[in-house]
Amino acid sequence: MAIERTFSIIKPDAVAKNAIGGVTAKLEAAGLRILASKMVRLSEAQAKAFYVVHKERPFYAGLVKFMTEGPVVVQVLEGENAIAKNREVMGATNPEKAAAGTIRKDFASDIERNAVHGSDAPETAKEEIAFFFSTAELAALAR
Ligand code: CMP
Repeated sequence: MAIERTFSIIKPDAVAKNAIGGVTAKLEAAGLRILASKMVRLSEAQAKAFYVVHKERPFYAGLVKFMTEGPVVVQVLEGENAIAKNREVMGATNPEKAAAGTIRKDFASDIERNAVHGSDAPETAKEEIAFFFSTAELAALAR
């Protein structure tokens, strides 16, 4: 299995709950390495652009409002099969359906306030990493 990179957001609900460490511990325990990490406050324009694929969905406006209500932690994760592994440790989008021990089971409130985001495919991972991290930033952090 190839070493992959994926992109993660610890969302405003999890940051407000003081769960940055709790979420990160689960990622690390799953074998994912935090390659880059920074706390940022999304502007409305950034949140709208990041979630533009959901523009026509009824939850889009609420999602943008939620994602801008407080700081988030954006991260680049690396590891074997990182995209699938991250999604596994995140759990289902709806925490009611998330498996025991997953991030969303332990830290999410509902389908919107669901603690974390993770890329769903190699192409989106690449785009989402580039949305928040410059090539120079990533190069400076390379081991
Ligand atoms: P995320 O994995 O970041 O991708 C899109 C986000 O939209 C999702 O997590 C949730 O925060 C939110 N979302 C998805 N489905 C719904 C829904 N039915 N109602 C409200 N928010 C949703």
